[in-house]
Amino acid sequence: MLAYRHAFHAGNHADVLKHTVLAAVLHHMNLKDKGWRYIDTHAGAGGYSLQGDYAKKRAEFEQGIAVLMDKTDLPAPLAELVRLVREFNGNKGLIQYPGSPAIARALMRPQDQLRLYELHPTDHKILDSYMAEVPGVEVKQGDGYASLKSQLPPTTKRGVVLIDPPYEIKTDYLRVLGALREALERFPDCVVIIWLPQLQLVEAAQLPQRLKAAADAGAKKGWLNARLTVAQADARGFGMLGSSVFIANPPHTLHDELQPVMPYLAQALAQFDGARSALERSAKA
Ligand SMILES: C[S@@+](CC[C@H](N)C(=O)[O-])C[C@H]1O[C@@H](n2cnc3c(N)ncnc32)[C@H](O)[C@@H]1O
Repeated sequence: MLAYRHAFHAGNHADVLKHTVLAAVLHHMNLKDKGWRYIDTHAGAGGYSLQGDYAKKRAEFEQGIAVLMDKTDLPAPLAELVRLVREFNGNKGLIQYPGSPAIARALMRPQDQLRLYELHPTDHKILDSYMAEVPGVEVKQGDGYASLKSQLPPTTKRGVVLIDPPYEIKTDYLRVLGALREALERFPDCVVIIWLPQLQLVEAAQLPQRLKAAADAGAKKGWLNARLTVAQADARGFGMLGSSVFIANPPHTLHDELQPVMPYLAQALAQFDGARSALERSAKA
């Protein structure tokens, strides 16, 4: 059942979009001294070799983060992602790519907490080996959706949840929606970041509308949806066209920060002539 390995995809266009948003949100959280709790429901291994067999097999990072590394005209949030990737590599090129736990770890302060959930035994072991000893970090091998009950609301009433499942099983679409509703019910101020794939699949097509309705009902500060389309489906209709990041209760500056990012990514990471982006928000955001 656990066939998905993020190492095949590390640093691709979807990671670039997701991690740019994650870093921008955590920087916003750091504007106040009060500590925050970050809950990563699907944490992965935390970091990935780009020279290992997995990454080299598809080399998705070559059409993702590698394109951006030496650009000199990056909008600020992308320049920050590149800075974090460089730092993760000890400023020695692009040998490895940070996963969401590593991005959060780079931006956490002594008063902040990371709660990282990963189900796959191998990825959990890798994550645990390099994160578990960090003060403020807890790594658990368990179901990330079920974690929200015990982790929300945080005692400091400042929280960020990242929900980033593989969507290899169709139940993920329903569970993501349920998790957003549960997070907002438990903690209506919670910043919830959800990654979703653009696929020619009815569940994938319906999910954005369902998330918007759930956030309209439960999020105090509305929602933002950033969509990036970079590729075409194959002749049989298979393949990922791009992805979206949906944010419930986005920081009030996030829309303006992402505005130059989205067309930049559509142009820089385009794999066909029709690459495009969209940035939508609710009236409250
Ligand atoms: C897309 S990857 C996560 C990538 C990571 N968030 C990042 O940005 O670096 C999805 C991960 O979720 C794990 N997974 C799948 N179902 C899970 C569940 N119910 N709870 C926790 N982890 C799960 C998979 O093993 C996989 O490592």
